[in-house]
Amino acid sequence: MDVKIVAYKKGDYKILVDLWERSGLPYKPLGRDKEETIEKELKRGVGKFLFAMLDGKYIGTVLVTHDGRKGWINRVAVVPEYRHKGIARILVEAAEKWLNGQGIEIYACQIEDYNKESLEVFKKLGYIPFEGIHYLTKRKYPEV
Ligand SMILES: CC(C)(COP(=O)(O)OP(=O)(O)OC[C@H]1O[C@@H](n2cnc3c(N)ncnc32)[C@H](O)[C@@H]1OP(=O)(O)O)[C@@H](O)C(=O)NCCC(=O)NCCS
Repeated sequence: MDVKIVAYKKGDYKILVDLWERSGLPYKPLGRDKEETIEKELKRGVGKFLFAMLDGKYIGTVLVTHDGRKGWINRVAVVPEYRHKGIARILVEAAEKWLNGQGIEIYACQIEDYNKESLEVFKKLGYIPFEGIHYLTKRKYPEV
């Protein structure tokens, strides 16, 4: 399969939301996933949304960010018709490659407890569960 990886560019918001919706991935349209917020975030240069394309169709996406020390793989989503064909692997490897180019050597992801499938997928991609860390956040508003 000749899967191409392309980066989100201004105006691609509808493509992104369509992929999230078709993949059943929850998102925050009133907070961090608002179009203006995403496009402002991308201008900061510490993250990218990538798309997987096959035969001119968008079939999956990932958000890759870094905080200067660690790289974060977020929001991997592949539309149901193209699952189990190695598309998530291609997306995650492209995200890791970008991080590597930014000088980042630790790749990490957060997976919600209910999402056992995603946990299995990341284990298959070489990610090792790290016991003994609590994830705590403080948010300016509930929908952020
Ligand atoms: C999770 C998801 C992105 C996987 O996409 P995919 O393209 O089907 O995954 P791949 O085909 O690249 O599979 C990667 C590896 O995980 C394995 N895998 C894929 N789906 C799996 C599942 N449901 N359970 C266990 N292992 C699975 C594959 O066998 C493969 O391992 P291998 O290379 O050793 O054979 C896709 O199911 C999805 O979009 N789910 C809904 C959104 C979601 O929950 N995203 C995660 C947010 S953190």
